[in-house]
Amino acid sequence: MMTCRNLLCCAVLLCAGVSLYGEALPQYASEVHLGVATCASGVCHGSVSARTSTDVPQNEYVTWSRLDRHSNAYNLLLSEKSRQIADNLGLANAHEAAVCLDCHADNVPEALRGARFQISDGIGCEACHGGAERYISSHVDPDISSIENHANGLYPTGQFPSRAALCFSCHLGSDNKIASHEIMGAGHPRLSFELDTFSVLQPAHHVVDEDYVQRKGAAGNVSVWALGQVEAAAQTLRLIETKLIPENSLFPELSLFDCHACHHAMSDQKWVSQERNPAPPGTVRLNDSGLLMLIPLARVFDESLQAGLHSGLQSLHHQVNKSENAVAAVSGLRRNLDLLSSAISRKPSGTSEARKLLDEILAMGSQGQFHDYVAAEQAVMAIDMLLSVLGNRDDRSDWVDQLYETVADEDQFYAGDFIDLFLTYPDSP
Ligand code: HEC
Ligand code: HEC
Ligand code: HEC
Ligand code: HEC
Repeated sequence: MMTCRNLLCCAVLLCAGVSLYGEALPQYASEVHLGVATCASGVCHGSVSARTSTDVPQNEYVTWSRLDRHSNAYNLLLSEKSRQIADNLGLANAHEAAVCLDCHADNVPEALRGARFQISDGIGCEACHGGAERYISSHVDPDISSIENHANGLYPTGQFPSRAALCFSCHLGSDNKIASHEIMGAGHPRLSFELDTFSVLQPAHHVVDEDYVQRKGAAGNVSVWALGQVEAAAQTLRLIETKLIPENSLFPELSLFDCHACHHAMSDQKWVSQERNPAPPGTVRLNDSGLLMLIPLARVFDESLQAGLHSGLQSLHHQVNKSENAVAAVSGLRRNLDLLSSAISRKPSGTSEARKLLDEILAMGSQGQFHDYVAAEQAVMAIDMLLSVLGNRDDRSDWVDQLYETVADEDQFYAGDFIDLFLTYPDSP
């Protein structure tokens, strides 16, 4: 099911390693994790209500434990659903299996678990902020710089692309963990993620006020989205390089492909000739939800990169069914991706970029470029964010609600309905 970032659409729908940049992700760094209880005392991050006299609200624990799904991620492994998944995989249980704990808890090695550490805390503070062993005392000292705190193991969640690498490691997969087709075949849901939308959906336990901006800066939604897209692309390429061809298997890692390329009725003709994907009918389409927005981003941020990205993407789509060549296609793309990333980082994005991106994405929609469900899902999240930034979302709420309705159930998604909706976009409501 599609997740939406806005209460309006919830009324309509059931709302129900090492990073690529070299720093170790919290799970794989060398510091001891002291446990949520260590962070959660009343004088530290366990205040019941938000404080205003201090730099940070200090009620982070309450927000996390009451509102944030990450605090429930381990408990999910005790559910009937997890028991079934574990059974299907031949595991004794889910809550002791490393393959599940790696994404549903702060699964650091035994030797790095402090006296108050409990695996049952799920995705606790240190799963994102890093093991506190060395920064526990320094991070409360105003005279100690953030650079020093980072050197002491505090993970730079405030910086891109570090934050993206952290979220993607569990929500998309990484060198060390992946929700493989085997796990999905056993009953695990398909993963979908978009950095800005999910950053909005995760109940914030930080307040972006004047002192925050001074200490960490503040990226607007468009920048977060744009950098998230570039990082999703980088991580997708990395997964193709490292996971596409599993050992001892006739088939590639099917979770990297579009699920509905295979899982649909034969009478439902899904293949159409698409400009960005020149692969012939009968080949399995890559899940390109992480690569989809590179062309509109290039058109807005650096047009000179468009041709190179376009041919790189075409080549990847074409070659992904020919295993060795796929890896070569990845390296060709990566150079242009790095250039795009720098072009986006050079300037903060505001309403003018939002307007241009929206026009690009609406045009792609009416040309039928969001033909696959995973593409449509990304388009909806992008449009919702862009309309919100432009202050136009409320005027077009009926149309946005319809957009969400078309992607509410992936088994009932019809590309034709989705295209029709773009043709009725209320330019001036
Ligand atoms: C690569 C990371 C990853 C791995 C490995 C992983 N999960 Fe998950 N799992 C997730 C994420 C992320 C979600 C939340 C999906 C969302 O809401 O977008 C999730 C959701 C779930 C859900 C909720 C399903 C629902 O219908 O709401 C269950 C149950 C679950 N996982 C069990 C397991 C079990 C059991 C294992 C081990 C066999 C496992 N997971 C391995 C990342 C992972
Ligand atoms: C799923 C990842 C995640 C978890 C779990 C998590 N945080 Fe955070 N935290 C973030 C992100 C992202 C930010 C915003 C970026 C930033 O300011 O570094 C943040 C911000 C903060 C800030 C604000 C820092 C500032 O400079 O104003 C504090 C304090 C904090 N978290 C403490 C905690 C505590 C305590 C816990 C556990 C109870 C926790 N966090 C759990 C991701 C997480
Ligand atoms: C250690 C793995 C891990 C990391 C790191 C992580 N997540 Fe999650 N996230 C999960 C799992 C597992 C769930 C599902 C938990 C549940 O449903 O109980 C989840 C759930 C969520 C949800 C709720 C989804 C829904 O369908 O309502 C949001 C939003 C989210 N994560 C955002 C983020 C963001 C933003 C980051 C990075 C700052 C992040 N996550 C980092 C594993 C992770
Ligand atoms: C290349 C084709 C292909 C792709 C792509 C693919 N699958 Fe599969 N899937 C299969 C085949 C073949 C089976 C085993 C036969 C069956 O059970 O239908 C299977 C089985 C499954 C099952 C178990 C069904 C059952 O009845 O036991 C699930 C669930 C599943 N896949 C989910 C997914 C998800 C989620 C994705 C996308 C992330 C995906 N698949 C991508 C071909 C594919």
